[in-house]
Amino acid sequence: MKKFSFALTISTLFVLVGCGGGRDYTPPADASGEKIFSSACTECHKPLSANVAMILSEKVANKEAITKKFQSGSMRMPAFKNIQGEAADRLADYVLANSQVK
Ligand code: HEC
Repeated sequence: MKKFSFALTISTLFVLVGCGGGRDYTPPADASGEKIFSSACTECHKPLSANVAMILSEKVANKEAITKKFQSGSMRMPAFKNIQGEAADRLADYVLANSQVK
């Protein structure tokens, strides 16, 4: 029992700091980019207004870089390995179309 709560505490900590190595979220087959963003991303990326989901730095303001970012993650951002194929395409389109480039 003690061991179990220790493991639980550790995994909760990882989830809290967002570096557990990834998230298991899998988008429904027919989910729009907007839907995926609001389910998986707004926890950390709060939309700035109705049309501005994120502010992107110039080097990330393209579909390839956005897709790489959410599939591979980074130091402080978890990887979403289950967002693939068309869903990844729709999400990247949505982010790109609804972001401001700083
Ligand atoms: C646990 C929090 C968290 C979640 C959930 C999260 N992100 Fe992030 N994201 C971050 C942090 C922190 C950064 C900035 C640091 C970095 O780039 O590593 C970031 C950076 C980014 C960037 C790069 C922005 C730039 O200009 O450099 C993109 C693109 C991005 N996230 C997309 C997404 C998408 C799409 C999702 C949903 C699938 C998502 N994020 C979910 C925390 C999160």
